[in-house]
Amino acid sequence: MNKKVLTAVMAVSMLAGLGVAANAEGEKIGVAMPTQDLQRWNQDGENMKAQLEEKGYEVDLQYAGNDVQTQVSQIENMIANGDQLLVIASIEGDSLGTVLAQAKEANIPVIAYDRLIMNTDAVSYYATFDNYLVGKTQGEYIVEALDLENQDGPFNLEMVTGDPGDNNVNFFFGGAMDVLQPYIDEGKLVVPSGQMTKDEVATAGWDTATAQSRFENILSSFYADGTNLDAVLASNDSTALGVVNALAANYTGEYPIITGQDCDIANVPHIVDGTQAMSVFKDTRTLASQVVEMVDAIVKGEEAPVNDTETYDNGTGVIPSFLCEPVAVTVDNYKEILIDSGYYTEDQIQ
Ligand code: BGC
Repeated sequence: MNKKVLTAVMAVSMLAGLGVAANAEGEKIGVAMPTQDLQRWNQDGENMKAQLEEKGYEVDLQYAGNDVQTQVSQIENMIANGDQLLVIASIEGDSLGTVLAQAKEANIPVIAYDRLIMNTDAVSYYATFDNYLVGKTQGEYIVEALDLENQDGPFNLEMVTGDPGDNNVNFFFGGAMDVLQPYIDEGKLVVPSGQMTKDEVATAGWDTATAQSRFENILSSFYADGTNLDAVLASNDSTALGVVNALAANYTGEYPIITGQDCDIANVPHIVDGTQAMSVFKDTRTLASQVVEMVDAIVKGEEAPVNDTETYDNGTGVIPSFLCEPVAVTVDNYKEILIDSGYYTEDQIQ
């Protein structure tokens, strides 16, 4: 524990004895986010900043433009500038080992935010949504929408997932494939492109244009003869948008079921008009408040609240985790979940 954290912990213990609540005066928290280009990280960053400041923390919030080296430099600066605790949503899970060894050396605790940071023993806690459940929910949606329990098909399916360096992809894609693979094995689902491994269906940087051009190729190579595409497993909304764009210009068959994740502003109109069947909503306000609780506990020298101590091994052992719950959103419940909850205004998603 570094000197400031130790002083804070001692002060808290003394105040606790006097029955006085602790406060976070003077503690500076580094928050490293991957990019402002993908919508959710802006919300994550804003929510974290607002909620930490409300508790009296100073916040050093940085975005790295999806560039690993920039993120490493930002974290180096946070350490050099005396940030007392780091909250990091990594760009590439495996690229922070060296810089986080410096954090450990300086006794700066690290919370992995949303994405697990791999192969370093410097990570104290992990807070995320249940990533496996996200993938499973997408897979189950496809099974129900095509009524695969009762129909023989065969139905044509294509898949698109995210950045191969993002550990979440293993859970999103893995969770969905655990549901879909038995139907592929049975022959009820067929993948005309033959692209079925994580590496074949990955999208560098979760980039919409990259997903779009891969899909344009798939459509022109395997569907130009009028073959129907029945369903697309898209791991998130930025990649789903690439699929929607590719279909708009290159496909005239019956419109497929498309999954997604995040309920991005750009995707909600597609959910409403049916060009994207569903998305999995992850309320970034909930994740931020969970992480703020973790920060508070660590600063006070207490154990942070966790609800999973089995699933997330980062290569150095299981990292105690808090998993928030994702929710499936369709045209039937988007108003209640996205608007009535105050997450978006009607105007934002027109
Ligand atoms: C997050 C998703 C997000 C994706 C791209 C993943 O690590 O969990 O919510 O869609 O990154 O930003």
